[in-house]
Amino acid sequence: NATTYTARAHTNIALIKYWGKKDEELILPMNNSLSLTLDRFYTETSVTFDEQLKDDLFLLDGSRENGNKVSKFLDIVRKKAEINIKAKVISQNHVPSTAGLASSASAYAALALAASKAAGLSLDKKELSRLARRGSGSACRSIYGGLVEWQKGTDDQTSFAYPLEMPNNFEITMVALVVNADYKKISSRAGMKRVVETSPYYPAWVQTAAKDLKNIKQAIVERDFETFGEIAEENAMKMHALNMSAHPHFNYLEPNSIKAMQIVEKLRLEGVSCYYTLDAGPNVKVICLKRDVKVIAGTLSDSFGQEKVLVAGPGPAAHLI
Ligand code: DP6
Repeated sequence: NATTYTARAHTNIALIKYWGKKDEELILPMNNSLSLTLDRFYTETSVTFDEQLKDDLFLLDGSRENGNKVSKFLDIVRKKAEINIKAKVISQNHVPSTAGLASSASAYAALALAASKAAGLSLDKKELSRLARRGSGSACRSIYGGLVEWQKGTDDQTSFAYPLEMPNNFEITMVALVVNADYKKISSRAGMKRVVETSPYYPAWVQTAAKDLKNIKQAIVERDFETFGEIAEENAMKMHALNMSAHPHFNYLEPNSIKAMQIVEKLRLEGVSCYYTLDAGPNVKVICLKRDVKVIAGTLSDSFGQEKVLVAGPGPAAHLI
């Protein structure tokens, strides 16, 4: 009597970045972070615990994958549910093909919801967020829709995300430019570890990230989009500066990332309110208000081609389907 549960979770873009762990096993972060869940990109995952299975089975976008990380995550679920049954996991990423925007955040948020249900658990949102965190830190934020804060906490119990109120008439939108869809040179997991261990600037990051978070939350309450965007952009640049100050140093930016950043800066001088952020890769995400999407997407399309430009608005919480 194996029951299948299917969940959908959306990706999120961090505006105050999570960059560095204080506990690698439990995935406890060094700083609080803040993100926007996106409507356009999501992962759909089905989980079935089945007594007939000898091993866990993991299919991603139709092909069989090495499921070590997934199995390790399922072990956490099995332990919670006190079961010892293998599972079949079928996962489908709904991001435009080769966009390079597939994320571990939507993947583990969907897996946490589907697997916990299929194992017979009924977790509340806080517990789900804590569980998703164990797969990938940023996944704890994808349990919720809209603006979300991840409270770093001090242990497994106290490190989880919660939603922030989205003010009326604060129509934040993201215009993403795909600079390079290939796999990243260095994973966020390895990159942030190296930064914590070797960057002489890491203590300054932890201090200023806390200030950035406080100020961006104030800007949200005041619906001050300029301040909101400025803080997000600066915070992202500080993260990338950390990477360049690590030993050995590394850098996710590519020539076209810089080119896109300069286009955004130029648009800003022309009076368009827009700011950029980049995660552990070269793709540039422009934060703007809905009213300016056309001009920003149009300008980026002129330089890079329309097929490289994707627009996403605020997305919903993870849910069963
Ligand atoms: C740059 O959540 O992918 O996107 O916890 O090791 O799986 P792990 O890392 P991950 O890191 C995301 C880093 C980031 C910033 C962010 O999303 O906050």
